[in-house]
Amino acid sequence: MNFATPKYRALTTLACLWFAGAGTAAAAEPATISAGQVYFEKICAKCHETGIGPELTGRDLPEATFIVTARIGRNGMPAFRITDIDDQTLIELARYLASTARAGDAEGGADGRR
Ligand code: HEC
Repeated sequence: MNFATPKYRALTTLACLWFAGAGTAAAAEPATISAGQVYFEKICAKCHETGIGPELTGRDLPEATFIVTARIGRNGMPAFRITDIDDQTLIELARYLASTARAGDAEGGADGRR
């Protein structure tokens, strides 16, 4: 078989384009997960998804609440420095949480009834 024929070269080019396309699609996926969401799941969820702190999902709390609470801390909650999490990441975190459903919605529906 002669691999240098134009037909073979065209097929190789197509295969390369297809792989390149698949790679781009796969790489685009994680971009929808913000640094704020990652930080929440790694750090804040240790308290806020375990009953130590109040539930924060689906409450649509204002962005300022997250910035102020994180900077000052609150009773059992430690303060977070700007080197721990910056304001932009806290805003992303607030937006991520605003986009989530309230805990328990999966079983009961928004009003808690079945
Ligand atoms: C060590 C446990 C702990 C961690 C980690 C933690 N929190 Fe908290 N958080 C608490 C507790 C406890 C409260 C309730 C404080 C109170 O009012 O008594 C709270 C309260 C809050 C409130 C106020 C909620 C309300 O109902 O008004 C916000 C907002 C909040 N935390 C955001 C965050 C964010 C954002 C992070 C991550 C950057 C975080 N917390 C990490 C324990 C924690």
